[in-house]
Amino acid sequence: MNTLSQEKINEIRNSVNIVDVISSYIPLTPKGKNYFGICPFHDDNNPSMSVSPSRQIYKCFSCGATGTVFKFIMDYENISFMEAVKKVADLGGISVNIGKIQKKQTHKELHQIYDLSLKFYINNLNTKAGQEAREYLKGRNISDDVIKEFQIGLSLKHDTLSKILTQKFNPDEVLKSGLIGKNDYGYYDLFYDRIMFPLYDLDGNPVAYSGRIYNKKDNSKYFNTRETEIFKKGELLYNYHRARDIARKKNQVIIMEGFMDVIRAYTVGIKNVIATMGTAVTETQAHLIKRMAKDIILCFDGDEAGAKATMSCTNELLKIGVTPKIIRLEDDLDPDEYIQKKGKDAFQRKIDNPISVMDFKLSYLKQGKDLTSSVDQAKYISEIITELNKIDDDILKDLTIKKIATEMNIDEELIRKHLETKPKPIIASKPKPQIQNDKYEKAESALIYYMLKSPEVITMYNNKVTYIPNKEYRQLAREISSFYKNFGFINEADFIDYLECDEELMKTISKINMENTKEEYTLEEIEDYIRVIKDYNVKEEIKRLTNKMKTLTDPLDKAKIAEEIVGLKKGV
Ligand code: CTP
Ligand code: MN
Repeated sequence: MNTLSQEKINEIRNSVNIVDVISSYIPLTPKGKNYFGICPFHDDNNPSMSVSPSRQIYKCFSCGATGTVFKFIMDYENISFMEAVKKVADLGGISVNIGKIQKKQTHKELHQIYDLSLKFYINNLNTKAGQEAREYLKGRNISDDVIKEFQIGLSLKHDTLSKILTQKFNPDEVLKSGLIGKNDYGYYDLFYDRIMFPLYDLDGNPVAYSGRIYNKKDNSKYFNTRETEIFKKGELLYNYHRARDIARKKNQVIIMEGFMDVIRAYTVGIKNVIATMGTAVTETQAHLIKRMAKDIILCFDGDEAGAKATMSCTNELLKIGVTPKIIRLEDDLDPDEYIQKKGKDAFQRKIDNPISVMDFKLSYLKQGKDLTSSVDQAKYISEIITELNKIDDDILKDLTIKKIATEMNIDEELIRKHLETKPKPIIASKPKPQIQNDKYEKAESALIYYMLKSPEVITMYNNKVTYIPNKEYRQLAREISSFYKNFGFINEADFIDYLECDEELMKTISKINMENTKEEYTLEEIEDYIRVIKDYNVKEEIKRLTNKMKTLTDPLDKAKIAEEIVGLKKGV
């Protein structure tokens, strides 16, 4: 969240010219008051994006993308709002220490507990007691450098760590860390005799461990820290903080299942890698992944479980408009084994030649089916149609349809007939142009368009509009009004930054911009819009009362409501 003041953010934005910054990403040509370029946020060859030096915002007339310099950098580089602010501050020569400001002071003690435990475990590995563990790691081709880089350690028997921690920190807080337990005899360590792999939060602080057995047979290979206040498994990804920048630079990120796989890839110099750590990908994780890079490659274990995980991770990504590419490894190998067995170059070739999501799904769905039987054929085709309906990528869709038609010897049109034509429930990554025919929505949209430009219109809204029917417009109008109340002026660029480019509200602004509302307005027009909105509310109220009347039995009650309706109708 934003920890800089609104003034500071304004200062940072004003330290650069949006035209200079955007033209360092895409070529811009001047035309009249504005500059134009090809919008990088949708496929286009026409210069639909205009950049206004006077208003310090950009706007695409084709896809509706809009925002300030921060929003442009956020979307272009897949980074967060605060990261974009930091970038612009650097360009403008303004010093801000966002890293430090942003770092939460909450759970300070828990973080200190983890910092100390990390030192303790790392040290153990270097002692005499750590010899067998060191040999195990050596046997797995994990060098001293890698041990250092990934801060691999060792837990010992009994209660050494719990003693150290409870002496130094509040024991109740230490219990919350998930590192120790307590019974009638006192405190004891929860991890013992395991090689300790620290797990980090998104900023790179150690917040949990995965402990691996190395010297005995045990029923569980890994023992993990339970969820705590600072460790929510579904909200982080292994190696995220190390991979983030390099993934962004390459615009590619590779996702694996296990952290050992990531460590192996990293060891051979493939560093844009993260791991899901063997659990189903959550929506939060999917969004994190989406932010990292455009090119997303899933490289899960080569076995059946890995194929299943690929399927479910793919679907989670498709839900948020991301179409990943897939790598499948032969002989049930996982990436760690594959790299060791076949070498780095063979693995790099795999990365350079991933298969499409649909090719993966086709072969996945084919498994266990007898495609000479018409029952299985029909099942196969219908399953593929379900999968086709999940993807956003028209070209990939078309290619797959052709492929299936040939393979199964059926008519392409037959498949097309079964595809959903209505807009999919998938939220596309780019705002799509939407035509609104509804006169009410048009009025709402226009009113807000002018509110963004004029205090006069905001005042009219404040005085005359009690309720905007459409939820997204209503929220936006309220935000504009409260911005004006707080700051005493309105300016689209400042307002957008004030929203911190909130995804939902930005979508609504894009939608409003897509309406091509004319620049100038008259007061009569504004009055008109307000009247239309009021009409709508009154009609809704009449509808509600009419329905209510139907449920009533007492004639007196009925008459009362009828009277109310008549009153409302008079006002219309
Ligand atoms: N995992 C876990 N508990 C288990 C097994 C797996 O938490 N009992 C998680 C770990 O985070 C692991 C990931 O799932 O990194 C993938 O599991 P697996 O493929 O079994 O681990 P490998 O990476 O192959 O580990 P190793 O090579 O050490 O056997
Ligand atoms: Mn393995």
